[in-house]
Amino acid sequence: MQRFIDKAVIVTGGGSGIGRATARAFAREGASVLVADIVSDRADETVALISDEGGKALAYQVDVSSSAEVSRMCDAAVEAFGKLDILFSNAAVIDKGAPSAEIDDDLWARVIGVNLSGTFYGIRAALPHLVKTKGNVVVTASVASLGGMQGGTAYTASKFGVAGLVNQFACEAAVDGVRINAVAPGGVDTNIFDGMDDIPAMQRMVRTNTPLGRFATPEEIAEPVLFLASDAARYITGTLLRVDGGVRSK
Ligand SMILES: NC(=O)c1ccc[n+]([C@@H]2O[C@H](COP(=O)([O-])OP(=O)(O)OC[C@H]3O[C@@H](n4cnc5c(N)ncnc54)[C@H](O)[C@@H]3O)[C@@H](O)[C@H]2O)c1
Repeated sequence: MQRFIDKAVIVTGGGSGIGRATARAFAREGASVLVADIVSDRADETVALISDEGGKALAYQVDVSSSAEVSRMCDAAVEAFGKLDILFSNAAVIDKGAPSAEIDDDLWARVIGVNLSGTFYGIRAALPHLVKTKGNVVVTASVASLGGMQGGTAYTASKFGVAGLVNQFACEAAVDGVRINAVAPGGVDTNIFDGMDDIPAMQRMVRTNTPLGRFATPEEIAEPVLFLASDAARYITGTLLRVDGGVRSK
């Protein structure tokens, strides 16, 4: 399929995991992709992968927790591609599953700053451009947008907030023909867990709690993202689409 020919797309957190898989998927279907990440080497690697596959992409360094940097990122996409059709707001950090008592002020501010404020800054900055193209936004929420876990208070709070932003912006932007949706993954096999204390125990816990019994691949999240961003989803806005192997069905 080539659903995104001549479409201009920004992918934040595009240097790894879900962002990388989604950037590649958009490019394979004809989009020009601004691969934005705080780690420029990772963004460069994604762009090289896309170029090797014959796609069109540019690397861009951004810290999504800075509203000024996020505004410049949107302007850079429009400057490079002439317009903006789709924002995939995906960059986030975890609090390593820390219980509430261990979340100090700096960790709280960092997680909320990247995950919640970063999502707000991205949608706010992209909207004026998306109004012109009748474009849309897809956000990476989480099963943590739907309920608490045993640890990870800051992450869960940030992802509940992200779900609220999707609802709010969807209502506000509909009048301008812009759709805002989210995917809510469960466990996905990416680098986000690097640095956690006991990764094997966490992986066992995720598998045990997931009816489908395994982690998703990043590509299995990319496919629903592309669906939500495509014209096939033209009557869908304000939706949080669970892609969680059934975790929240239990
Ligand atoms: N992996 C999972 O199990 C899982 C589950 C549910 C939701 N998610 C969500 O999926 C999204 C992508 O995560 P992933 O699993 O692919 O993780 P990942 O760590 O593989 O990729 C995240 C990318 O975001 C970048 N990033 C981090 N902070 C940034 C910042 N301030 N500005 C710009 N870029 C920044 C990182 O450098 C990295 O390249 C996140 O929103 C995450 O919360 C992941």
